[in-house]
Formats: sequence, C-alpha cells, structure tokens
Amino acid sequence: MMFSTARLILRPPNAEDLARLFAIYGDPATNQFNPAGPLADIHRAEALLEGWLEHWNANGYGQWAIASRDAPEHIIGFGGIALYNYLDVERLNLGYRFDSAAWGKGYATELGSAALTFAFNELNAEQVFALVRPSHRASIGVLEKIGMQRIDVLDDVPGQPQSLVFKANRDS
Ligand SMILES: CC(C)(COP(=O)(O)OP(=O)(O)OC[C@H]1O[C@@H](n2cnc3c(N)ncnc32)[C@H](O)[C@@H]1OP(=O)(O)O)[C@@H](O)C(=O)NCCC(=O)NCCS
Repeated sequence: MMFSTARLILRPPNAEDLARLFAIYGDPATNQFNPAGPLADIHRAEALLEGWLEHWNANGYGQWAIASRDAPEHIIGFGGIALYNYLDVERLNLGYRFDSAAWGKGYATELGSAALTFAFNELNAEQVFALVRPSHRASIGVLEKIGMQRIDVLDDVPGQPQSLVFKANRDS
C-alpha cells in the first residue's frame, strides 16, 4: 500500500529499485556514521533488497522506497518500520537513509513522523524503537524532533562507543 505525507510518497520497494538502492547505500556520504561502511557492490544491494522484500511478504509492511511528490519516479531514500532484533527482543525499529542531495529539507523528520503514525495506527504498536550512533547529531535530532526519547545504550560496535536506543510510546 502507498502512503503519502505533505511532501513525500512512501511505497513498498520492488526489484526495479535496485539501482537507486545501490546508489544511495553504496555512497560513502550516506554511510559516514555506519560502522559497516557503504555497500561494496551491487550484490550486497541485491541481498539487502531481497531481505526487505521477504520482510514485506512475511509481515505486510517494511522499508518504504521514498520519493518526493514533485518527482514521484525518482527514489530519494529508503526507510520506515521493520522488525529488528536487539537488546534480546525483536522490536519495531525505525530506520532511514536518504540520498545526500535530499538532506537538509526535513524529509527524514517527515518520514519518521509518518512511520510512527503508521506503526501506532496501522500496526497497533505500543512502542517503536530506533538505534543511532552517538556522534550522529543530525539523526539524533530527527529522532528528538519526532518525539522519541533516549532510553538505553547498545554495545553493537566492538571497540567503539555504544549506540543510543530511542523509543516512542503509543500514548505519548
Ligand atoms: C540523517 C539523515 C537521515 C537526516 O536527513 P534529513 O532529511 O537531512 O533530516 P531533517 O532535515 O529532517 O533533520 C535533520 C536535523 O539535523 C540537523 N543537522 C544536520 N546536520 C547536522 C549536524 N552535522 N550536526 C547537528 N545537527 C545537524 C538539521 O539542522 C536538522 O535539524 P533542524 O530541523 O532542527 O534544523 C540524512 O542525513 C541521512 O539519510 N543520512 C545518511 C543515512 C543515515 O545516517 N541514516 C541514519 C542512521 S541512524
């Protein structure tokens, strides 16, 4: 199912998104804070997309492909709500990665806010979580702007500072 926000179109990804996925996830700029770094080749992008499509098939929701309403055919990022296992439990996790050309316009905030609404209203979720590297001020700012609160830390990158765990509650 497709969703739209004031400026964005959010739709399920498909096989034709592979080139844009690799362009965005293979770009060092979009992975500056990702300890794993950019995707090394298109095969990794294929595997990532395959995993997303499996998640959609199994759950009926997952990462969206994101376009602006002005240019609906051009994917500017990927993000949304997906199941992710950390701190011992499978959680509804909010994630996002936008093409650097689309940064600084409030798109991540708009996507994040829509994703929380989707999780609470459509999935009937009680809580949504997000993980962020502690030095990633822009992404922390997004999570704060959409009303998420820091609740914990996670030792997910050996030898490096812990990631921050954020949470939003349905009723807050
Ligand atoms: C992080 C990211 C999602 C932000 O997307 P965006 O659409 O530019 O975000 P928004 O415009 O909605 O909000 C970003 C906020 O961070 C602020 N910001 C941007 N760069 C910053 C920096 N270096 N330090 C502090 N704040 C910064 C912006 O000013 C803005 O806050 P404001 O609205 O109060 O001015 C985007 O840069 C991205 O996709 N990066 C690559 C992937 C990634 O890191 N994903 C997150 C993994 S946790």
